[in-house]
Amino acid sequence: MQVYRWMDEKDVQVLASVKAERDKSLDWKPFAAIRELWPRLPGLTADLCRFDLPQVTIGTPLAPDHPARVVLEQAARAVMPWKKGPFNLFGIDIDAEWRSDFKWERLADALPDQKDKLVLDVGSNNGYYLFRLLPQRPRYLLSIDPVPRLWYQFHLLQRYAGAPNLEFAMWGWEELACWKELWDTVFCMGIIYHHRDPMGILRNLREAMKPGGLLVMESIVIPGDDSICLFPPDRYARMRNVWFVPTVTALKHMMTRAGFIDIREVATNRHEPAEQRTTLWNPGPSYRDFIDPHNADLTAEGHPAPWRTILTARKKG
Ligand SMILES: C[S@@+](CC[C@H](N)C(=O)[O-])C[C@H]1O[C@@H](n2cnc3c(N)ncnc32)[C@H](O)[C@@H]1O
Repeated sequence: MQVYRWMDEKDVQVLASVKAERDKSLDWKPFAAIRELWPRLPGLTADLCRFDLPQVTIGTPLAPDHPARVVLEQAARAVMPWKKGPFNLFGIDIDAEWRSDFKWERLADALPDQKDKLVLDVGSNNGYYLFRLLPQRPRYLLSIDPVPRLWYQFHLLQRYAGAPNLEFAMWGWEELACWKELWDTVFCMGIIYHHRDPMGILRNLREAMKPGGLLVMESIVIPGDDSICLFPPDRYARMRNVWFVPTVTALKHMMTRAGFIDIREVATNRHEPAEQRTTLWNPGPSYRDFIDPHNADLTAEGHPAPWRTILTARKKG
């Protein structure tokens, strides 16, 4: 991994051993079909790549019955569901559950130029946002997410996108401790409420960032001005792994307590079914099934329905 060149030998060893262990999950049974297809992936060159479009586009469209496209489509189907996107791979229109371009649009104008920056996306899913960042020519981009299906999705795209300074590893926020004041910019989007230790995540994020570095924090939130969090006794919007849902104020206070400064609210909006929905590439239930069918202000369990916020902040210089 290119990132090792900026790290101490001791930390490299820790990350390399976590990587070796996690990489074993690529051999799990659910990935038998993609493993079988992998050596047969076509040796195409993507003459056209568009990372500036809402639909990340890699390769000039091939006819639907072109043998190379047929294999690529089998591969993309073998690693379903696609939660983040949209992508277009040689004409294959991968309409993911999430219109991740909506989040990107809300964020893009507030993001300072990333040219020559070292950028980390924590819990990146398949790497959609870092593909979108490529036109700004950061020095290096690392996408981390511990889920093997996403390793396959990322590498299926990157094999043809061929961005030399973009990598993916199955590390999680827990591994951030291996980076000491390294990153210029860190994205932590859609992560914090899924984990039990929000202050631990914020501490790890801060320590991994350069002084003066930029944090992009994105989260579900509940409406209201008080500094409080909803702590659901069980599921929230059908999700088992939502531990708390803060107000924007509470999230800002957590970030302040963790040592971040210059906290800015970039966008806060009601979460809408147009942004997260059932598609051919994510055939399972989606947001409409997670909220009260008679009252869009409530989740299926009767909690306040989610809004989303994007905050940016700096690590003290
Ligand atoms: C709600 S998704 C957010 C994806 C993306 N960041 C976005 O904003 O669209 C949460 C992501 O966190 C990943 N994840 C799970 N455990 C993690 C961990 N320990 N550290 C970092 N990410 C993790 C999941 O695989 C999933 O891709």
